[in-house]
Amino acid sequence: MSQHVPLRKAVFPVAGLGTRFLPATKVMPKEMLPVVDKPLIQYAIDEARAAGIEEFCLVTGRGKDSLIDYFDTAYELEDTLKKRDKAECLDILKPSVVEPGSLVAVRQQVPLGLGHAIWCARDFVGNDPFAVLLPDDIVQSSVGCLQQLVAVYNQTGGNVLAVSEIPREHTNRYGILDIGADDGHLVEVKGLVEKPDPKEAPSCLSIIGRYILTADIMSHLAKLERGTGGEVQLTDAMAKLIGKVPFHGVRYKGRRYDCGDKVGFLEAQIAFALDRADLADGVRQFLKQYI
Ligand code: UTP
Repeated sequence: MSQHVPLRKAVFPVAGLGTRFLPATKVMPKEMLPVVDKPLIQYAIDEARAAGIEEFCLVTGRGKDSLIDYFDTAYELEDTLKKRDKAECLDILKPSVVEPGSLVAVRQQVPLGLGHAIWCARDFVGNDPFAVLLPDDIVQSSVGCLQQLVAVYNQTGGNVLAVSEIPREHTNRYGILDIGADDGHLVEVKGLVEKPDPKEAPSCLSIIGRYILTADIMSHLAKLERGTGGEVQLTDAMAKLIGKVPFHGVRYKGRRYDCGDKVGFLEAQIAFALDRADLADGVRQFLKQYI
């Protein structure tokens, strides 16, 4: 049995402006964009549930209320579906309703960066360990990515990050690890740099949008120091914890799609559609015409 405090809480930062998807995101949150027929936020919540998360916190901002409504019952719709005997539609809706009282939302009035968004959830987190899931990253895997991190956390405690190998020319897009011991699955984190120039990047291992963090991070975020891009960077606050608490990266099994980027988003549509028995044949057929 693990001696570490069990992971039960997760924070979902969803207050960003989603500028790369304008005009779609003018009135609709980026995190409500669907991959095939499910919004990005639902993939993240499903993955968290599968990893044993019981308490969910959305960090929202202006114009993002539909993300909260999404997890509520839709009385008129459900009533109409019942009257029309659409049991299959009612089943599809079930995972979008959370346990009463298990979801809270806090407000990030101005999107000052991911670190600031996490700091907005400090009262929700209290002294407990917590997961962070960025809904614009989705991971296709047989065992959920967060569940893979939890397996490591139960052994090591401390901070655990999902990491993936990227081409060196892309290091200036992501948080990058400086690593110590590496057994091919688990890597010891010795340092973290946000968006380094490819020439200066200490490795090609990038952080993706799945983290398990200890509550100590909040005291560093509270200083609201601005980093790369003038934003309060989560990476900078995490870097201050290295050497103070166990800190590991996990080369998770699965394929990650960066749905905050147009090409990554389109790739996710194809990959998830090809994974669906009801869609794969039709999608394969039309793809042939383009290749
Ligand atoms: P991104 O930087 O990818 O999202 O943040 P963005 O700023 O919304 O998108 P672009 O770059 O303008 O297109 C990753 C996640 O962190 C959240 C976003 O909502 C997204 O889910 N985020 C980002 C916040 O909640 N607050 C912030 O201040 C920044």
